[in-house]
Amino acid sequence: MIPQKTVQEILETAKVQEVVEDYVSLRRRGVNLIGLCPFHNEKTPSFTVSPAKNLFKCFGCGKGGDPARFLMEHENLSFPEALKQLAKKYRIEIEEVKMTPEMAAEQAERESLFIVNEFARSFFQDQLLNTDVGKSVGLSYFKARGFREETIKKFGLGFAPNDRDAFIKKATQIGYKPEYLQRLGLAKNGRDFFWNRVMFSIHNLTGKPIAFAGRILQKDVKAPKYINSPETEIYTKSKILYGAYFAKRDIRKQDECILVEGYTDVISLHQAGIENVVASSGTSLTEGQILLIKRFTPNIKILYDGDAAGIKAALRGLDLVLEKDMNVKVVLLPDGEDPDSYLQKVGATAFKDYIDKEAKDFILFKTDLLLSDVGGDPVKRAGLVHDIVDSIARVPDPFKRSFYVKECARIMELEEQVLISETNKVVKKILQKREFDRNRKRPGQVHIVPEDSPPPGEQPLPDTNVRPIQPAQKELSQDEFQERDIARLLIAFGGEIFDPEDEITVAEYILSNIEEVLEDFDNPQYQGIVKECLERVVAKQPLSPRYFIGHQNHELSALSIDLLHSPYEYSPGWEKRELYLHSQKMPDDNFSKDSISALLRFKLKKIMRLCEKNQQQLKGLNAKDDVQKMMRLLKVQAKLNEMRNELAKQLGTVVLK
Ligand code: UTP
Ligand code: MN
Repeated sequence: MIPQKTVQEILETAKVQEVVEDYVSLRRRGVNLIGLCPFHNEKTPSFTVSPAKNLFKCFGCGKGGDPARFLMEHENLSFPEALKQLAKKYRIEIEEVKMTPEMAAEQAERESLFIVNEFARSFFQDQLLNTDVGKSVGLSYFKARGFREETIKKFGLGFAPNDRDAFIKKATQIGYKPEYLQRLGLAKNGRDFFWNRVMFSIHNLTGKPIAFAGRILQKDVKAPKYINSPETEIYTKSKILYGAYFAKRDIRKQDECILVEGYTDVISLHQAGIENVVASSGTSLTEGQILLIKRFTPNIKILYDGDAAGIKAALRGLDLVLEKDMNVKVVLLPDGEDPDSYLQKVGATAFKDYIDKEAKDFILFKTDLLLSDVGGDPVKRAGLVHDIVDSIARVPDPFKRSFYVKECARIMELEEQVLISETNKVVKKILQKREFDRNRKRPGQVHIVPEDSPPPGEQPLPDTNVRPIQPAQKELSQDEFQERDIARLLIAFGGEIFDPEDEITVAEYILSNIEEVLEDFDNPQYQGIVKECLERVVAKQPLSPRYFIGHQNHELSALSIDLLHSPYEYSPGWEKRELYLHSQKMPDDNFSKDSISALLRFKLKKIMRLCEKNQQQLKGLNAKDDVQKMMRLLKVQAKLNEMRNELAKQLGTVVLK
C-alpha cells in the first residue's frame, strides 16, 4: 500500500514529457510535442504530449492520460506498479504502509526466489560466453543456429556444464541457501537439475527469469530434447507464454499475437524483426494463456508445422479460444518446416509474406480441412456439420456467428437455414446450461430448469460465453438513454448499409446528423464512441461490432459488449433475436428504422434542452440588458420551436405547448 500522500506527491512531480521521452522521441509543435504513437502503427505522428496539461493523447488510436497512465499502457503495469516506477525515476521514497510482518516475510521470500533465479541466469550466461567449453559447445551451437550475440543476451540464453554440481557449488559458495535451489527446481536430490544443455530463460511479464529450459545437444540420445523447470511458487506453467515479455509491446502495436510452438521459433522470429510472437512451450493453449494474450489483443495467428500429425486434435483445442471471443487465424507452414527453419530458409520478407498470405480464418480453415477428408460420404458429412456447428456456436458474438454460418454453408454447399437452426440449437443449449448453472449457484431463488438442461455436476461454461440479458440501466438520465441508443446503433450496425440506393452506411447517416451536437453529450463514454466512429468514418476505416468488442481500450470493449447484449427497449423481441442467430437479412431492416427514430429522439431531447436554456436566459433578462440581446434570444427560441415541432412530427409524437 502506497500512502495517499505519496501518491499525490508522485503524480504532482511526474512530468509527462520526461516520462514519455524515455520511450518515444518527441519534437516540438507549438506548445505541444508530437511523436510517433507507441501504441499503434503509424507513419505520421499523431501522438501529442501537452506539458502544460501534463497529459498525452494519440489522435490516431485514442489512447491518452497522465504519466502514470502512460506507463500502465506502455509497460502493462498496474497503477501501483506505475507509481513505483515513477517514484524511482523521481527519487521519491515510498514507505509502504500496512504491511503486516507476514506480508513482508512472504514478499521477501518471493524476492529471494527471483534473486536466486537471476543469479542462475547470469551463471548460465557466464558459462556460455566466458568458459572454453561453453564457447566451444554452447555458443557455437547457438551461432550455428543463426542467433546473434545481442539476441543471445536479450533472451538470457546460456549453458549448463557437464559436471553435475557446477551450479550448486557456485550458488552455495556465494551464500544462496540450498533450500531455495531446490524450491526453484534448479537442484534435485543435491545435484544440478540442468547439466550439459544449452539453456533458455523463461521470463514473466516484467522480464524476470522465473524458470528455465535446457536443450540437449547430442542427437539420438534417449533423454528428452528439452527439460523444463517444474512448477514453483513463482512459475505457473499454464499462465506463462514464452517470449511474452519481449513481445507484448509489438503485440499491442500490431494488434495481433503470433503463436508458435518452440522456444527457438520465438527467438528466430524476434531476431528477424517479427516481435509479436510467443510460444506455449509445447503444450496446448490454456485458458490462462489465452487471457494473457487477450490483455494485449483479440487477434491471434497460430503457425503450425506443415507436417504436424496432430493438427486436427490441435484444432479441437482451439474452441476454447473461440469462446474467449478471440479472432483466430491459422497458418500451415510448408511440409517439414517449423517457423524457425522456414524463416532461416526463405528470409524475413518472404516469411512475412507467406504468413500474411496463407493465414486462414480458423473456422473456415477447419471446415475446409474436414471437408477434404470426408469426400462424398453422406454420413461423415453429417458428422462434419455437427463438428463445425459446435465451433460456430461457441463464438459469443452473434454477428460473427452469422458470418460463419453464411460462409460455412457456402463451403459445405448446404442450405444456410439448416446451419442456422443447427447452430441455434447448440447456442440454446449453451444458454440453458448457463441459466441452469446460474440458478444453481443462487440458492433461495426460484429454479427454472429448462427441460433439456444438462444433469447437475457438469462444468459450467466459461463466463465470457453468451452473456445474460442485462436489465435496462434505470439510473441513466433520460438524455443518456438517447445517447446510449446512438452509441449502440453505431457499434452494432455502424458499417451496415443504411440506404441501398445511395450506399450510405448507418454510421454515415447518424454521424452526418449529429456532428453539431456532438459536444453536447452528457455521457463521456457514449460521446467517445461517437467521436471514434466519426474519426474512422472520416478516415474511411470500416466499422464493425468486432472492432469495438476487440477494442484496445478495455473499458470501451466491455461497454460495447454490454451495449450489444442489453435489450433494445423500443424494439420488442430484440433481446431474443440478439442472443440467437438472426438470418442474413434483419427483419425489415430494423436498424435503419431504429437509427432514424433514435436519432430523432436524440435530437428532440437536445433541442428541448436548448429550448429550456434559452427560456431561462430570456427570463433572466432584466432592464439593463439591451433589446438586441432579447431579440436574438427570441429568434433563437422561434427557430428551436420550429425544429422541435418538425422533429416531433417526424417521430409521430405531439409536443404540447
Ligand atoms: P520442438 O521439438 O518443435 O522443438 O518442440 P523446437 O522448439 O523446434 O527446438 P529445436 O528447433 O529442435 O531446437 C517444441 C516445443 O515443445 C517443448 C519445448 O517448449 C519446445 O520448444 N518441448 C519439446 C519440451 O518441452 N520437451 C521436449 O522434449 C520437446
Ligand atoms: Mn525447431
